[in-house]
Amino acid sequence: MTLRRISLFVVLFLLMGLDSFALPGASPGGQALNLSKFVDQLPIPPSIQLRGRRPFELTITLGQFEAKLHRDLPPQPEWGYDGSSPGPTIQIERGRKLTVHWKNQLPEVHLFQAPKGADRITPDVRAITHLHGAVVTEPDPMDRLHNNDGWPDAWNIPGQEQIAEYPNDQAARTLWYHDHAMGETGRNVAAGLLGLYEIHDRYERSLNLPSGRYDIPLAIQARGVNADGSLYYTADIANEFYGNALAVNGKLWPFLNVEPRKYRFRIVNVSNARSYALSLAEADDGATSSGNAGPAFYQIGTGSGFLQDTVILNDPSDPASPKLVLAPAERADVIIDFSGVAGRSFVLKNSSHDPGTSALPLHLRPIPRLRVADAAGARQIIFGQMAMPDGTLMQTLNGRSWKDPIEDRPVLGTTEVWELANTLTDVHPFHIHGLQFQVLDRTFFDVQAFLATGKINYLAPPVPPLANEMGWKDTVRVLPQMVTRIILKFSPFPGYYVYHCHILEHEDMDMMRPFEIVPPGTLELTPR
Ligand code: C2O
Ligand code: CU
Ligand code: CU
Repeated sequence: MTLRRISLFVVLFLLMGLDSFALPGASPGGQALNLSKFVDQLPIPPSIQLRGRRPFELTITLGQFEAKLHRDLPPQPEWGYDGSSPGPTIQIERGRKLTVHWKNQLPEVHLFQAPKGADRITPDVRAITHLHGAVVTEPDPMDRLHNNDGWPDAWNIPGQEQIAEYPNDQAARTLWYHDHAMGETGRNVAAGLLGLYEIHDRYERSLNLPSGRYDIPLAIQARGVNADGSLYYTADIANEFYGNALAVNGKLWPFLNVEPRKYRFRIVNVSNARSYALSLAEADDGATSSGNAGPAFYQIGTGSGFLQDTVILNDPSDPASPKLVLAPAERADVIIDFSGVAGRSFVLKNSSHDPGTSALPLHLRPIPRLRVADAAGARQIIFGQMAMPDGTLMQTLNGRSWKDPIEDRPVLGTTEVWELANTLTDVHPFHIHGLQFQVLDRTFFDVQAFLATGKINYLAPPVPPLANEMGWKDTVRVLPQMVTRIILKFSPFPGYYVYHCHILEHEDMDMMRPFEIVPPGTLELTPR
Protein backbone atom coordinates (compact mmCIF):
# COMPACT_ATOMS: atom_id res chain seq x y z
CA MET A 1 0.00 0.00 0.00
CA THR A 2 1.31 3.42 -0.86
CA LEU A 3 0.41 6.22 1.43
CA ARG A 4 1.01 9.82 0.83
CA ARG A 5 3.54 11.20 3.18
CA ILE A 6 2.51 14.64 4.26
CA SER A 7 4.46 17.24 6.04
CA LEU A 8 2.85 19.61 8.45
CA PHE A 9 4.51 22.45 10.16
CA VAL A 10 3.98 22.09 13.82
CA VAL A 11 2.87 25.54 14.72
CA LEU A 12 3.47 26.00 18.38
CA PHE A 13 1.85 29.36 18.98
CA LEU A 14 4.96 30.66 17.45
CA LEU A 15 4.90 34.10 15.97
CA MET A 16 6.15 36.73 18.35
CA GLY A 17 3.87 38.01 21.00
CA LEU A 18 3.62 34.48 22.20
CA ASP A 19 2.55 35.48 25.65
CA SER A 20 -0.69 34.17 26.83
CA PHE A 21 -0.54 36.27 29.97
CA ALA A 22 0.38 39.91 30.04
CA LEU A 23 2.77 40.48 32.88
CA PRO A 24 3.20 43.97 34.26
CA GLY A 25 6.78 45.10 34.42
CA ALA A 26 7.73 42.56 31.81
CA SER A 27 10.95 42.96 29.92
CA PRO A 28 10.32 43.87 26.31
CA GLY A 29 12.84 41.30 25.14
CA GLY A 30 15.59 42.08 22.67
CA GLN A 31 15.28 43.34 19.14
CA ALA A 32 13.11 41.46 16.69
CA LEU A 33 15.03 38.83 14.77
CA ASN A 34 14.93 38.70 11.03
CA LEU A 35 15.07 34.93 10.62
CA SER A 36 13.17 32.62 8.32
CA LYS A 37 10.93 30.34 10.27
CA PHE A 38 10.55 26.59 9.77
CA VAL A 39 13.80 26.00 7.93
CA ASP A 40 15.43 23.69 10.46
CA GLN A 41 14.21 20.21 11.12
CA LEU A 42 13.14 19.57 14.69
CA PRO A 43 16.12 17.95 16.42
CA ILE A 44 15.47 15.08 18.80
CA PRO A 45 17.82 15.29 21.77
CA PRO A 46 20.16 12.31 22.10
CA SER A 47 18.69 9.64 24.30
CA ILE A 48 20.24 7.36 26.88
CA GLN A 49 18.14 4.22 27.06
CA LEU A 50 18.78 2.28 30.23
CA ARG A 51 17.47 -1.22 29.61
CA GLY A 52 17.75 -4.19 31.90
CA ARG A 53 17.53 -4.82 35.60
CA ARG A 54 20.74 -3.69 37.19
CA PRO A 55 21.17 -0.41 38.97
CA PHE A 56 22.62 2.01 36.46
CA GLU A 57 25.40 4.53 36.81
CA LEU A 58 26.07 7.39 34.41
CA THR A 59 28.38 10.35 34.17
CA ILE A 60 26.86 13.41 32.55
CA THR A 61 29.03 16.45 31.99
CA LEU A 62 27.91 20.05 32.27
CA GLY A 63 29.86 22.16 29.84
CA GLN A 64 30.06 24.83 27.20
CA PHE A 65 29.98 23.97 23.51
CA GLU A 66 29.05 25.59 20.22
CA ALA A 67 25.77 24.98 18.46
CA LYS A 68 23.78 26.44 15.62
CA LEU A 69 20.43 27.68 16.82
CA HIS A 70 19.23 28.24 13.26
CA ARG A 71 20.30 27.51 9.68
CA ASP A 72 21.22 31.15 9.06
CA LEU A 73 23.11 31.77 12.28
CA PRO A 74 26.74 30.88 12.94
CA PRO A 75 27.57 28.43 15.71
CA GLN A 76 27.56 30.15 19.09
CA PRO A 77 28.54 29.09 22.58
CA GLU A 78 25.88 27.70 24.86
CA TRP A 79 25.73 25.47 27.91
CA GLY A 80 24.29 22.02 28.24
CA TYR A 81 24.77 18.45 29.32
CA ASP A 82 27.09 16.09 27.42
CA GLY A 83 27.50 18.70 24.73
CA SER A 84 23.87 19.30 23.91
CA SER A 85 20.95 21.41 24.99
CA PRO A 86 18.52 19.93 25.77
CA GLY A 87 20.89 17.37 27.24
CA PRO A 88 20.39 13.66 26.66
CA THR A 89 16.90 12.34 27.37
CA ILE A 90 17.32 9.68 30.03
CA GLN A 91 14.89 6.79 29.58
CA ILE A 92 14.49 4.29 32.38
CA GLU A 93 12.04 1.66 33.58
CA ARG A 94 10.10 2.25 36.77
CA GLY A 95 11.88 0.94 39.87
CA ARG A 96 15.37 0.75 38.34
CA LYS A 97 17.86 2.76 40.33
CA LEU A 98 20.10 5.24 38.61
CA THR A 99 23.11 7.07 39.98
CA VAL A 100 24.23 10.08 38.00
CA HIS A 101 27.56 11.82 38.42
CA TRP A 102 26.78 15.35 37.28
CA LYS A 103 30.26 16.54 36.42
CA ASN A 104 30.72 20.28 36.36
CA GLN A 105 33.09 21.15 33.51
CA LEU A 106 31.65 24.59 32.90
CA PRO A 107 34.09 27.41 32.14
CA GLU A 108 35.10 29.76 34.95
CA VAL A 109 33.40 32.67 33.22
CA HIS A 110 29.64 32.68 32.79
CA LEU A 111 28.07 32.88 29.35
CA PHE A 112 26.06 35.90 30.53
CA GLN A 113 26.77 38.90 32.69
CA ALA A 114 25.15 38.60 36.08
CA PRO A 115 21.89 40.55 35.91
CA LYS A 116 21.47 43.62 38.04
CA GLY A 117 19.78 42.91 41.33
CA ALA A 118 20.81 39.25 41.50
CA ASP A 119 22.40 37.95 44.68
CA ARG A 120 26.12 38.09 44.12
CA ILE A 121 27.64 34.94 45.49
CA THR A 122 31.16 34.09 44.38
CA PRO A 123 32.30 32.28 42.40
CA ASP A 124 30.17 33.39 39.50
CA VAL A 125 29.80 29.95 37.90
CA ARG A 126 27.93 27.59 40.21
CA ALA A 127 25.67 24.68 39.33
CA ILE A 128 23.60 21.89 40.83
CA THR A 129 21.20 19.66 38.95
CA HIS A 130 17.64 18.98 40.08
CA LEU A 131 15.39 16.29 38.59
CA HIS A 132 12.04 18.04 38.48
CA GLY A 133 9.18 15.80 39.56
CA ALA A 134 11.35 13.03 40.98
CA VAL A 135 10.81 11.47 44.39
CA VAL A 136 14.21 11.25 46.06
CA THR A 137 15.66 11.39 49.56
CA GLU A 138 17.88 14.23 50.67
CA PRO A 139 19.76 12.99 53.74
CA ASP A 140 21.99 16.04 54.04
CA PRO A 141 20.90 18.95 51.87
CA MET A 142 24.22 20.74 52.36
CA ASP A 143 26.33 17.82 51.13
CA ARG A 144 27.70 19.11 47.84
CA LEU A 145 29.08 15.77 46.68
CA HIS A 146 26.11 13.52 47.47
CA ASN A 147 23.05 15.56 46.66
CA ASN A 148 20.02 13.85 45.21
CA ASP A 149 17.48 16.62 44.94
CA GLY A 150 19.78 19.46 43.91
CA TRP A 151 19.53 21.63 47.02
CA PRO A 152 20.00 25.24 45.87
CA ASP A 153 22.76 26.03 48.38
CA ALA A 154 24.73 22.83 47.70
CA TRP A 155 26.00 24.08 44.33
CA ASN A 156 29.40 23.08 43.11
CA ILE A 157 32.01 24.76 40.95
CA PRO A 158 33.87 23.76 37.78
CA GLY A 159 36.02 20.71 38.47
CA GLN A 160 33.61 19.29 41.05
CA GLU A 161 30.78 16.82 40.73
CA GLN A 162 27.40 16.04 42.28
CA ILE A 163 26.42 12.41 42.75
CA ALA A 164 22.66 11.93 42.73
CA GLU A 165 20.63 8.76 43.27
CA TYR A 166 17.26 8.39 41.60
CA PRO A 167 15.05 5.47 42.76
CA ASN A 168 12.62 6.02 39.84
CA ASP A 169 9.89 4.38 41.87
CA GLN A 170 7.17 6.34 40.09
CA ALA A 171 4.61 5.44 37.47
CA ALA A 172 5.40 6.38 33.84
CA ARG A 173 5.82 10.10 33.31
CA THR A 174 7.96 12.82 31.76
CA LEU A 175 10.33 14.58 34.11
CA TRP A 176 13.00 17.10 33.28
CA TYR A 177 16.30 18.02 34.83
CA HIS A 178 17.70 21.51 35.08
CA ASP A 179 20.08 23.63 37.03
CA HIS A 180 18.97 24.86 40.47
CA ALA A 181 21.92 26.81 41.94
CA MET A 182 20.86 29.52 44.38
CA GLY A 183 20.47 32.84 42.60
CA GLU A 184 21.66 31.31 39.32
CA THR A 185 18.83 29.13 38.09
CA GLY A 186 17.46 31.64 35.58
CA ARG A 187 20.86 32.47 34.10
CA ASN A 188 22.00 28.83 33.97
CA VAL A 189 18.81 27.48 32.40
CA ALA A 190 18.74 30.33 29.87
CA ALA A 191 22.30 29.29 28.95
CA GLY A 192 20.95 25.79 28.22
CA LEU A 193 21.30 23.65 31.36
CA LEU A 194 18.23 21.45 30.96
CA GLY A 195 17.20 18.05 29.66
CA LEU A 196 14.36 15.52 29.72
CA TYR A 197 13.92 12.29 31.66
CA GLU A 198 11.29 9.64 30.99
CA ILE A 199 10.14 6.90 33.35
CA HIS A 200 8.42 4.03 31.55
CA ASP A 201 6.33 1.17 32.90
CA ARG A 202 4.20 -1.80 31.89
CA TYR A 203 0.94 0.01 32.22
CA GLU A 204 2.15 2.60 29.73
CA ARG A 205 3.13 -0.17 27.29
CA SER A 206 -0.26 -1.87 27.72
CA LEU A 207 -1.90 1.25 26.30
CA ASN A 208 -0.30 0.73 22.88
CA LEU A 209 0.46 4.41 22.54
CA PRO A 210 2.54 5.71 19.64
CA SER A 211 6.11 4.80 20.54
CA GLY A 212 9.65 4.88 19.24
CA ARG A 213 10.03 7.58 16.63
CA TYR A 214 6.36 8.46 17.02
CA ASP A 215 6.90 9.44 20.66
CA ILE A 216 8.49 12.87 20.40
CA PRO A 217 9.63 15.26 23.11
CA LEU A 218 9.03 18.97 22.53
CA ALA A 219 11.01 21.10 24.96
CA ILE A 220 9.86 24.65 24.34
CA GLN A 221 12.22 27.39 25.45
CA ALA A 222 12.01 31.13 25.00
CA ARG A 223 15.54 32.27 24.20
CA GLY A 224 17.27 35.60 23.92
CA VAL A 225 19.11 35.77 20.61
CA ASN A 226 21.21 38.71 19.38
CA ALA A 227 21.45 39.57 15.68
CA ASP A 228 24.84 37.82 15.48
CA GLY A 229 23.30 34.64 16.84
CA SER A 230 24.79 34.84 20.32
CA LEU A 231 22.52 34.37 23.30
CA TYR A 232 21.53 36.99 25.84
CA TYR A 233 19.82 36.91 29.21
CA THR A 234 17.90 39.55 31.14
CA ALA A 235 19.98 42.52 32.29
CA ASP A 236 17.90 43.05 35.41
CA ILE A 237 16.58 40.24 37.56
CA ALA A 238 13.44 42.31 38.21
CA ASN A 239 12.54 41.78 34.54
CA GLU A 240 11.35 38.26 33.93
CA PHE A 241 13.18 36.73 30.98
CA TYR A 242 10.87 36.32 28.00
CA GLY A 243 13.53 36.34 25.29
CA ASN A 244 12.78 37.17 21.67
CA ALA A 245 12.89 33.76 20.00
CA LEU A 246 11.27 30.40 20.43
CA ALA A 247 13.33 27.23 20.44
CA VAL A 248 11.99 23.71 20.38
CA ASN A 249 14.56 21.05 21.32
CA GLY A 250 17.25 23.68 20.89
CA LYS A 251 16.40 24.97 17.38
CA LEU A 252 14.59 28.20 16.61
CA TRP A 253 11.19 27.72 14.98
CA PRO A 254 11.87 24.23 13.63
CA PHE A 255 9.57 22.12 11.48
CA LEU A 256 8.64 18.49 11.79
CA ASN A 257 7.59 16.16 9.01
CA VAL A 258 4.87 13.85 10.14
CA GLU A 259 3.29 10.79 8.63
CA PRO A 260 -0.48 10.40 8.46
CA ARG A 261 -0.83 8.56 11.75
CA LYS A 262 -0.93 9.13 15.50
CA TYR A 263 1.95 10.73 17.33
CA ARG A 264 2.63 11.16 21.01
CA PHE A 265 4.21 14.46 22.03
CA ARG A 266 5.70 15.08 25.45
CA ILE A 267 5.44 18.83 25.60
CA VAL A 268 7.57 20.47 28.27
CA ASN A 269 7.67 24.19 28.93
CA VAL A 270 11.34 24.70 29.84
CA SER A 271 11.11 28.50 29.51
CA ASN A 272 12.24 30.80 32.29
CA ALA A 273 9.07 32.86 32.43
CA ARG A 274 6.90 32.46 29.37
CA SER A 275 3.57 30.65 29.38
CA TYR A 276 2.10 29.25 26.18
CA ALA A 277 -1.34 28.50 24.83
CA LEU A 278 -0.59 25.88 22.23
CA SER A 279 -2.57 24.77 19.24
CA LEU A 280 -1.90 23.51 15.76
CA ALA A 281 -2.84 25.36 12.59
CA GLU A 282 -2.28 24.43 9.03
CA ALA A 283 0.53 26.38 7.45
CA ASP A 284 0.31 27.86 3.96
CA ASP A 285 3.96 28.71 3.70
CA GLY A 286 6.86 29.17 6.03
CA ALA A 287 5.60 32.39 7.51
CA THR A 288 1.86 32.51 7.63
CA SER A 289 -0.91 30.33 8.74
CA SER A 290 -4.21 29.99 6.93
CA GLY A 291 -5.88 29.95 10.29
CA ASN A 292 -7.44 26.59 9.61
CA ALA A 293 -7.41 24.74 12.86
CA GLY A 294 -5.15 21.71 12.84
CA PRO A 295 -5.99 18.38 14.37
CA ALA A 296 -7.10 18.21 18.00
CA PHE A 297 -4.79 17.50 20.91
CA TYR A 298 -5.80 14.54 23.06
CA GLN A 299 -4.13 15.11 26.38
CA ILE A 300 -3.54 11.82 28.17
CA GLY A 301 -1.16 12.95 30.89
CA THR A 302 0.41 15.74 32.90
CA GLY A 303 4.02 15.82 34.04
CA SER A 304 2.96 13.53 36.89
CA GLY A 305 1.62 10.64 34.81
CA PHE A 306 -1.60 9.72 33.10
CA LEU A 307 -4.89 11.51 33.61
CA GLN A 308 -7.95 9.50 34.51
CA ASP A 309 -9.74 10.57 31.34
CA THR A 310 -8.34 11.88 28.09
CA VAL A 311 -9.04 15.58 27.55
CA ILE A 312 -9.71 17.01 24.09
CA LEU A 313 -8.08 20.37 23.39
CA ASN A 314 -8.09 22.43 20.19
CA ASP A 315 -11.06 20.51 18.83
CA PRO A 316 -11.33 21.83 15.25
CA SER A 317 -15.10 21.37 15.26
CA ASP A 318 -15.46 23.53 18.37
CA PRO A 319 -14.05 27.07 18.21
CA ALA A 320 -14.50 27.39 21.97
CA SER A 321 -12.37 24.36 22.65
CA PRO A 322 -9.57 25.23 25.08
CA LYS A 323 -5.94 25.49 24.01
CA LEU A 324 -3.17 23.72 25.84
CA VAL A 325 -1.91 26.22 28.40
CA LEU A 326 1.49 25.48 29.90
CA ALA A 327 3.26 27.70 32.41
CA PRO A 328 6.99 27.21 33.04
CA ALA A 329 7.80 23.65 34.15
CA GLU A 330 4.35 22.30 33.28
CA ARG A 331 4.27 19.31 30.95
CA ALA A 332 1.57 17.69 28.86
CA ASP A 333 1.48 14.26 27.30
CA VAL A 334 -0.55 14.66 24.12
CA ILE A 335 -1.65 12.48 21.22
CA ILE A 336 -2.27 14.08 17.83
CA ASP A 337 -3.72 12.09 14.98
CA PHE A 338 -2.54 13.33 11.59
CA SER A 339 -4.18 10.52 9.64
CA GLY A 340 -7.24 12.50 8.63
CA VAL A 341 -5.31 15.54 7.47
CA ALA A 342 -5.29 15.92 3.71
CA GLY A 343 -5.92 19.61 3.09
CA ARG A 344 -3.47 22.44 2.65
CA SER A 345 -0.37 20.78 3.88
CA PHE A 346 3.07 20.42 2.44
CA VAL A 347 3.41 17.37 0.32
CA LEU A 348 7.01 16.24 0.30
CA LYS A 349 6.79 13.01 -1.55
CA ASN A 350 4.95 9.75 -1.74
CA SER A 351 6.43 6.93 0.20
CA SER A 352 5.35 3.83 1.94
CA HIS A 353 4.77 4.04 5.64
CA ASP A 354 3.13 2.09 8.34
CA PRO A 355 -0.16 3.90 8.95
CA GLY A 356 0.20 3.05 12.61
CA THR A 357 -2.06 0.92 14.70
CA SER A 358 -1.44 2.65 17.99
CA ALA A 359 -4.35 3.48 20.20
CA LEU A 360 -5.94 6.61 21.50
CA PRO A 361 -7.34 5.61 24.87
CA LEU A 362 -10.17 7.75 26.20
CA HIS A 363 -10.05 6.41 29.72
CA LEU A 364 -6.84 5.65 31.50
CA ARG A 365 -6.29 4.69 35.10
CA PRO A 366 -8.61 5.76 37.89
CA ILE A 367 -7.05 8.51 40.01
CA PRO A 368 -8.41 8.40 43.54
CA ARG A 369 -9.11 11.94 44.69
CA LEU A 370 -7.55 13.03 47.98
CA ARG A 371 -10.29 14.13 50.37
CA VAL A 372 -10.34 17.42 52.21
CA ALA A 373 -11.99 15.56 55.11
CA ASP A 374 -8.76 13.57 55.51
CA ALA A 375 -6.58 16.68 55.77
CA ALA A 376 -4.83 17.33 59.07
CA GLY A 377 -5.04 21.06 58.43
CA ALA A 378 -4.54 23.90 56.01
CA ARG A 379 -1.47 26.00 55.36
CA GLN A 380 -1.42 29.36 53.62
CA ILE A 381 1.24 30.49 51.20
CA ILE A 382 0.96 34.14 50.27
CA PHE A 383 2.39 35.29 46.94
CA GLY A 384 3.51 38.88 47.41
CA GLN A 385 6.21 41.45 46.91
CA MET A 386 8.53 43.34 49.20
CA ALA A 387 10.37 46.58 48.39
CA MET A 388 14.11 46.38 48.92
CA PRO A 389 16.08 49.38 50.23
CA ASP A 390 17.14 50.20 46.65
CA GLY A 391 13.53 50.22 45.53
CA THR A 392 13.50 46.94 43.63
CA LEU A 393 10.57 44.72 44.30
CA MET A 394 11.46 41.31 45.57
CA GLN A 395 9.01 38.48 44.95
CA THR A 396 8.23 36.63 48.15
CA LEU A 397 6.29 33.73 49.59
CA ASN A 398 4.82 34.54 53.00
CA GLY A 399 7.00 37.64 53.08
CA ARG A 400 10.08 35.51 53.66
CA SER A 401 13.27 34.89 51.76
CA TRP A 402 15.04 31.61 51.09
CA LYS A 403 17.45 32.16 53.97
CA ASP A 404 14.79 32.68 56.62
CA PRO A 405 14.37 29.74 59.01
CA ILE A 406 12.07 26.87 58.05
CA GLU A 407 8.50 27.51 59.16
CA ASP A 408 6.66 24.67 57.44
CA ARG A 409 7.04 21.28 59.07
CA PRO A 410 4.28 18.96 57.88
CA VAL A 411 4.21 15.50 59.46
CA LEU A 412 5.14 12.45 57.42
CA GLY A 413 2.09 10.48 56.32
CA THR A 414 -0.40 13.30 56.87
CA THR A 415 -2.43 15.17 54.29
CA GLU A 416 -2.86 18.94 54.13
CA VAL A 417 -4.65 21.52 52.06
CA TRP A 418 -2.40 24.35 50.90
CA GLU A 419 -4.05 27.66 50.11
CA LEU A 420 -1.92 29.49 47.58
CA ALA A 421 -3.10 33.09 47.82
CA ASN A 422 -1.87 35.30 44.99
CA THR A 423 -2.08 38.98 45.97
CA LEU A 424 -0.31 40.00 42.75
CA THR A 425 -1.53 40.64 39.22
CA ASP A 426 0.40 37.92 37.40
CA VAL A 427 0.36 34.13 37.20
CA HIS A 428 2.94 32.25 39.27
CA PRO A 429 3.58 28.57 38.53
CA PHE A 430 4.01 26.97 41.96
CA HIS A 431 6.14 23.86 42.26
CA ILE A 432 6.91 21.52 45.16
CA HIS A 433 9.90 19.20 45.07
CA GLY A 434 9.49 15.47 45.58
CA LEU A 435 5.71 15.42 46.04
CA GLN A 436 2.74 15.36 43.75
CA PHE A 437 -0.53 17.05 44.57
CA GLN A 438 -4.07 17.47 43.32
CA VAL A 439 -5.72 20.78 42.50
CA LEU A 440 -8.93 21.36 44.47
CA ASP A 441 -10.22 24.70 43.19
CA ARG A 442 -9.55 28.40 42.67
CA THR A 443 -11.52 31.23 44.27
CA PHE A 444 -11.34 35.01 43.91
CA PHE A 445 -10.65 36.78 47.17
CA ASP A 446 -10.59 40.39 48.35
CA VAL A 447 -6.90 41.21 48.06
CA GLN A 448 -7.13 44.73 49.52
CA ALA A 449 -8.98 43.46 52.57
CA PHE A 450 -6.50 40.64 52.91
CA LEU A 451 -3.51 43.00 52.80
CA ALA A 452 -5.13 45.14 55.49
CA THR A 453 -6.38 42.43 57.81
CA GLY A 454 -4.66 39.17 56.86
CA LYS A 455 -8.05 37.54 56.51
CA ILE A 456 -9.27 35.88 53.36
CA ASN A 457 -12.73 36.94 52.21
CA TYR A 458 -13.89 35.01 49.21
CA LEU A 459 -15.71 37.02 46.56
CA ALA A 460 -17.21 34.26 44.47
CA PRO A 461 -17.87 30.54 44.49
CA PRO A 462 -14.86 28.30 43.86
CA VAL A 463 -13.96 27.44 40.28
CA PRO A 464 -13.10 23.78 39.71
CA PRO A 465 -9.77 22.87 38.10
CA LEU A 466 -9.63 22.46 34.32
CA ALA A 467 -10.20 18.93 33.05
CA ASN A 468 -6.50 18.56 32.27
CA GLU A 469 -5.62 19.59 35.82
CA MET A 470 -7.55 16.68 37.33
CA GLY A 471 -4.57 14.32 37.43
CA TRP A 472 -1.53 14.51 39.67
CA LYS A 473 0.58 17.64 39.31
CA ASP A 474 3.90 18.94 40.58
CA THR A 475 3.46 22.46 39.20
CA VAL A 476 0.23 24.46 39.22
CA ARG A 477 -0.71 27.88 37.88
CA VAL A 478 -1.52 30.19 40.79
CA LEU A 479 -3.78 32.75 39.20
CA PRO A 480 -3.86 36.43 40.22
CA GLN A 481 -6.29 37.59 42.90
CA MET A 482 -7.32 34.01 43.57
CA VAL A 483 -6.66 31.39 46.20
CA THR A 484 -5.62 28.19 44.45
CA ARG A 485 -6.15 25.24 46.76
CA ILE A 486 -4.13 22.07 46.41
CA ILE A 487 -4.19 18.92 48.53
CA LEU A 488 -1.13 16.79 49.17
CA LYS A 489 0.08 13.90 51.25
CA PHE A 490 3.57 14.02 52.75
CA SER A 491 5.10 10.72 51.80
CA PRO A 492 7.12 8.59 51.33
CA PHE A 493 10.25 10.28 52.72
CA PRO A 494 10.84 12.66 55.64
CA GLY A 495 13.50 15.31 55.23
CA TYR A 496 14.20 18.61 53.53
CA TYR A 497 12.19 19.90 50.59
CA VAL A 498 11.77 23.02 48.50
CA TYR A 499 8.77 24.86 47.16
CA HIS A 500 8.95 27.83 44.83
CA CYS A 501 7.60 29.83 41.94
CA HIS A 502 8.91 28.36 38.67
CA ILE A 503 9.34 31.71 36.95
CA LEU A 504 13.08 31.41 37.32
CA GLU A 505 13.73 35.11 37.92
CA HIS A 506 11.19 34.98 40.76
CA GLU A 507 12.77 31.85 42.17
CA ASP A 508 16.19 33.53 42.03
CA MET A 509 14.92 36.54 43.89
CA ASP A 510 13.54 34.52 46.67
CA MET A 511 10.11 33.29 45.74
CA MET A 512 11.43 30.02 47.12
CA ARG A 513 11.31 28.45 50.58
CA PRO A 514 12.72 25.35 52.25
CA PHE A 515 10.44 23.10 54.31
CA GLU A 516 10.80 19.90 56.25
CA ILE A 517 8.66 16.78 56.46
CA VAL A 518 9.10 15.50 59.99
CA PRO A 519 8.49 11.94 61.23
CA PRO A 520 5.36 11.68 63.39
CA GLY A 521 5.90 12.51 67.03
CA THR A 522 9.20 14.34 66.60
CA LEU A 523 8.07 17.87 66.30
CA GLU A 524 4.49 18.63 65.65
CA LEU A 525 3.80 22.23 64.87
CA THR A 526 0.31 23.25 64.02
CA PRO A 527 0.15 24.68 60.54
CA ARG A 528 -0.06 28.44 60.45
CU1 C2O B 1 11.94 22.55 38.17
CU2 C2O B 1 12.79 23.43 42.03
O1 C2O B 1 12.38 23.00 40.09
CU1 CU C 1 11.39 20.32 41.13
CU1 CU D 1 6.41 34.04 40.40
